[in-house]
Amino acid sequence: MKDLSMHILDIVQNSITADAKRIEVEITENVSSDIYRIVISDDGKGMTADFVEKVTDPYVTSRTTRKVGLGLPLLKQNAERTGGNLAITSEVGKGTVVKAEFRFGNIDRLPLGDIAGTIVLLAAANLNIRFIYKHITEKDKYCFDTKEVNEMLEGMPISEPGVIRFLKEMIKENLQEINIAG
Ligand SMILES: Nc1ncnc2c1ncn2[C@@H]1O[C@H](COP(=O)(O)OP(=O)(O)OP(=O)(O)O)[C@@H](O)[C@H]1O
Ligand SMILES: [Mg+2]
Repeated sequence: MKDLSMHILDIVQNSITADAKRIEVEITENVSSDIYRIVISDDGKGMTADFVEKVTDPYVTSRTTRKVGLGLPLLKQNAERTGGNLAITSEVGKGTVVKAEFRFGNIDRLPLGDIAGTIVLLAAANLNIRFIYKHITEKDKYCFDTKEVNEMLEGMPISEPGVIRFLKEMIKENLQEINIAG
């Protein structure tokens, strides 16, 4: 995985597969405490405690086409490489929360990459899912919510090419305003 946005795309795919209808991505940057935190929460079908315990082991997957699941183990590896960690909490029938913490200034922390493109792509490809993306820096915070976007669009779908371009630019500009790190 070459950047954090690709990890986010991958982890959100798990939520989509788990039939989530509301998926939230929250990124918190804190230079003072040297923490870069990504939390992905969903209201999908969840996992049993037993399964959660084994899920960061690369040989666990519920997929039948391929034997190994790599999304969570790779994210864990990349978080731990910076001195951080990965924590998963889940409840069957309720949902799942995946929390990855990185050491902000660690040389091995991957850059964020194209988060605006990632979020808009997810929203455009899954019109029936509500996506919420929050980004918090020490300066301020930004929140993108497809529920609000849909109200603003008055019936025009997010998947419309012009809307996609507009939303990407809107997110990028708002992230610049709050001085996000690369
Ligand atoms: N948000 C979630 N809700 C419910 N189950 C989940 C969730 N995330 C992961 N899982 C379960 O954990 C397994 C492992 O996830 P992981 O992303 O590591 O691998 P994968 O999705 O199976 O394969 P890959 O990501 O490599 O394509 C999944 O197959 C799924 O059963
Ligand atoms: Mg996966």
